[in-house]
Formats: sequence, structure tokens, C-alpha cells
Amino acid sequence: MKGLIAPHGGTLIDRVLTGAEREEQRQIAKTLKQVPLDSFALSDLELIAVGAFSPLTGFLGAADYVSVLENMRLADGTVWSLPITLPVEKALAEQIQVGETVALVGEDGVIYGTLQVSEQYQVDKVREAELVYRTTEDAHPGVAKLYQRPDVYLAGDIWLLERQSDRDFAEFRFDPRETRELFAEKGWNTVVGFQTRNPVHRAHEYIQKSALEIVDGLFLNPLVGETKSDDIPADVRMESYEVLLRHYYPEDRVQLGVFPAAMRYAGPREAVFHAMVRKNFGCTHFIVGRDHAGVGDYYGTYDAQLIFRHFTAEELGIQPLFFEHSFYCTKCQAMASTKTCPHGKEDHLTLSGTKVRAKLRAGESLPVEFTRPEVAEVLIRGMQGKVHAN
Ligand code: ADX
Repeated sequence: MKGLIAPHGGTLIDRVLTGAEREEQRQIAKTLKQVPLDSFALSDLELIAVGAFSPLTGFLGAADYVSVLENMRLADGTVWSLPITLPVEKALAEQIQVGETVALVGEDGVIYGTLQVSEQYQVDKVREAELVYRTTEDAHPGVAKLYQRPDVYLAGDIWLLERQSDRDFAEFRFDPRETRELFAEKGWNTVVGFQTRNPVHRAHEYIQKSALEIVDGLFLNPLVGETKSDDIPADVRMESYEVLLRHYYPEDRVQLGVFPAAMRYAGPREAVFHAMVRKNFGCTHFIVGRDHAGVGDYYGTYDAQLIFRHFTAEELGIQPLFFEHSFYCTKCQAMASTKTCPHGKEDHLTLSGTKVRAKLRAGESLPVEFTRPEVAEVLIRGMQGKVHAN
């Protein structure tokens, strides 16, 4: 297998059925009991199948679930920080036997895969919230989602029968097998992964380019799965990334590819998860800046960096690159952080995501010290379009 770095757990999982085997299983699946998938579960199913969540081969059983919650590891000790589970309604779970294979059906009625049920179990969601999200408040979007989903978890190995056909951003969708090949073809020995759910502002650009000074390539890997409703929509963001890359990045040093996962807003634990997944995509390094995958004030600015201390370099495999909160300094006339700039807060330009979104919705431009003008233009146009469309 191609790649600069071994997948997490040593093997790149492949549970995508093809050819005659797929045809046969598709016919069988039509006769099976149907289990509905929400968009969260559908993205998890696909990411498990293509190996992005290696070493997972299915939805977690109780022993792994408890171990992930309590120790941030699977039961066999492998680092894994978020529970990947399949919640179903109790009434449906009661009709399903352990050992049975069920069809996994999307909201559009398509049978996307099958699950061989190895177990079903009920969980204490408040405890899950406390351990995974560090809060039990449903004002936290990840916790709200957890509470909304049904109560019984079905576990077992999955097979994928169908890829989502109406997939957006088709030209930027790569499975881990493909990104590994791409990086090898480009001759990169080291690749840094960058997770984002926002437009790339100057602070993001600064930390990406700081990383690019020491590694061969950047994998710009924006999350385009389910996000909270006030985040900037993925189609607007994708256009902004393309414009930014065209104007400000060397073409042969960057690969843009989408990460079709749901956002959990689990801060520190999601940072570890994001790193493991990018390792599966073939990245050797991964950027963790300020309040990675955070929301509101639930996490400390550097909690998502501190959490990596729980693990050894060997068990992580991928190397996290930590960056301080960065900003534009009017005295330095450059991007900087407190590690490189001696000036006070009054000289530093920072804007919160909320303020940025409010400005964009109002059609106001963003300062050039915060966002490249070409990017601001795309965002204003995009957000105005959304406002009118609503
Ligand atoms: S995230 O939820 O996907 O982490 P975001 O898109 O804002 O949100 O961040 C992408 C990455 O950039 C994360 O690693 C985050 O920590 C980092 N980051 C965002 N803003 C800054 C900043 N001003 N300074 C340093 N790092 C930042």
C-alpha cells in the first residue's frame, strides 16, 4: 500500500463492496430489516468503509464504547477519542436480534450498507456528554445532537453498498487510498493536514504557511459534513478556498480535499480524532491551533493541544504541530503570535467567528489584515446569496 505513514492500527480498512459481490449483497439487503441513518450516521458509515476511521470496521460495541469514554482508547489500547456509534429507536432495536444483518437506509430511502449486529446496548447520555464534551448542557451543539439522537446503540461490522450519488464537491472528494497515492505522486515525504470548518483567514494562512516552511505539502481538508446552522455553508467556503489557493499558495505544495464528516464540536477530543483520521489520509503532521474544534467558551484556548500529552509519539504516529493564537499586529505590520510579537493587545487585530459572520451577512467587507480581499469578496457574495435565498 502506498503511503508515507502507516494507517492508524496498521491496516487501512476497506469495507466498500464492489462488482458481483456488491450486486449480490444489494439484492439480499432489500430483504433485510431496515435501520434508518441520519446524516451523521451516514457520513460515519462511509468514512468507516473507506478506511478514514481505521482501525474501526463498524460501529462501536459496549466494551470499546466504555473504553473510549473512560480512557480515550479502544478496548485493545489503540488511541481513539470519540465514540462512533449507531443510535436507533428502542422500539426498532427490540425487533432486531444479535447476529442478524440489517440494511442501513438513508433519509432518501437508499440502502447504503449493511450492519451485522454483534450487540445492542443502552447508554447514559449525560455521562457520555460529560466525558466527551466536558459539559452536559444542551446549549453545546454536540451535546444537543447527542441528546436528540435515539437511545439504543447498535454495534457491529458494516459493509458499504452505495456511495452518496449527489455528492457535492465531487472533484475534491478523495478516499484515504487516493490521497495516499496523490501525496506519493507529488513526491512529498511529509504532509501537514489542516482541519477547518471556517473560511481560511489570515491567521489560518499564517499557521499553514509556517508549517509549510518545514514540511513538503499541505493537505487543506475542510470539513463539509453536518455543521451547526450558523457556520458558513460549505459551498461558500469551498469557493473561498479555491480563490485563496489560486492567488496566494504555490500550486505544487497544496492539495485541497474535503472531509465529509459531521462536526461534533468536542474540542480537545475531536482534535485527537481529527489527527488520527488525517493520519489515515496519509498526513505525517497535523495542525492544532487555538481552541481546535471548540465552540463558545466550553474549552480552554489550548486544551486541544494539552490533551495530546496523554499519548506517546509512537501511539499517535502522526506528529501534531501546535500553534499559538495568531493575529495581525499593526506595529509589526505582519501576522504574529505572542511568541513572535512584543506588542500589546491594542495593536493586535482579531475578530471572532460570530462577528465575522455578522459582518458578512450585513454585506460589510472584512479588513485586509484579517481576510484576503479576494476571499472576502467570495464570502460577502456567498453570504448575501444565502440571506436572499432564506
Ligand atoms: S475547527 O473547529 O475546524 O477547529 P477553525 O476552522 O476555526 O475551526 O480552525 C481550524 C484550525 O485553525 C484549528 O486547528 C484551529 O485551532 C486553528 N486556528 C483558528 N484560528 C486560529 C488563530 N487565530 N490562531 C491560531 N490558530 C487558529
